[in-house]
Amino acid sequence: MLLDDFRSAAASLRTDGPGQIAAASSLDAWTEVRNALVGRTSGRLSDLMTALGTLPKEDRREAGQLANAVKQELEALLDARHTELSRGQQQGPAIDGTMPARATWQGSVHPVSLVIDEVVEIFRELGFTIALGPEAEHAWYNFGALNFPADHPAMDLHDTLYLNDDLVLRTHTSPVQVRTLQQYAPPIRILAPGNVYRRDFFDPSHAPMFSQIEGLVVDEGITFADLKATLTRFANRFFGETKTRFRPSYFPFTEPSAEMDVLCGVCKGSGCPVCKQSGWVEILGSGMVHPTVLENAGIDSEKYTGWAFGLGPARTAISRHAIPDIRILYDSDVRFLEQFAR
Ligand code: DAH
Repeated sequence: MLLDDFRSAAASLRTDGPGQIAAASSLDAWTEVRNALVGRTSGRLSDLMTALGTLPKEDRREAGQLANAVKQELEALLDARHTELSRGQQQGPAIDGTMPARATWQGSVHPVSLVIDEVVEIFRELGFTIALGPEAEHAWYNFGALNFPADHPAMDLHDTLYLNDDLVLRTHTSPVQVRTLQQYAPPIRILAPGNVYRRDFFDPSHAPMFSQIEGLVVDEGITFADLKATLTRFANRFFGETKTRFRPSYFPFTEPSAEMDVLCGVCKGSGCPVCKQSGWVEILGSGMVHPTVLENAGIDSEKYTGWAFGLGPARTAISRHAIPDIRILYDSDVRFLEQFAR
């Protein structure tokens, strides 16, 4: 090839190139144009470079500079076009910056479930296992086996939801004590969380369905000291360093019986609406298992003794989080529940 031919080939590439680059209307088309113009192994620039080697030696320097200049021009145009085309691709539908943001809610564990999980965890560390029983329960397990006298007011239609003459919706988790004692030999250490039902009015401190956590320990040589020590230890784990007090109480299935109060978590004992100005919040009923209950379940009450408790997770959640009305717990109001999201 002669230098003149080389010059005119370079000039025509210089005139054709920009038009072709501008006409590339998509990234695919751009790639095709780039390969045709400046592709490394084929394409018009690479043809020029090949031709360069056939020129007389003295012309090669000028021709080389010419080819380089064309290459740089075309590559600058290609880059610019590529930027335009890729920006166009990202645009998508127009965004209206004045639209209100869509609300998103973060899921959370219900405060009552949080209490149950934590209580279970603490007692699990103390060697308790979980036991469960039916919510539709025989009246005998719910009352008779637990030493309720035949005329006890709790058995009144007014208080208990009867399914038929024999079946009730259990009014407490205590029947799980009897079922466990029938099924397993001591030593026994169980925790029984579950739902219970009462025909109470739905007022600020009562709900017709709520949850309870039952605890039961039966072995040789178990005393009231075990009850007090274990429940006090639990309270200090659950509430952080706190004080407990045991008040004498009565339940048909325990003797002696006691209710346990903890220092009000909201006012730390100085008195507030949550603790009704007393400084204390009752969180559970407890006592030494009545020998009659052990015998009713087939356990030798001369050999074995035990203690039990029943705790109200809703009450406990209320005192822990200073919730003013128990019904909020059952409303499923997201504005309330999302405050417990972690
Ligand atoms: N079952 C009782 C209730 O529902 C709570 C209770 C009290 C359970 C004393 C116990 C206990 O195991 O020892 O009111």
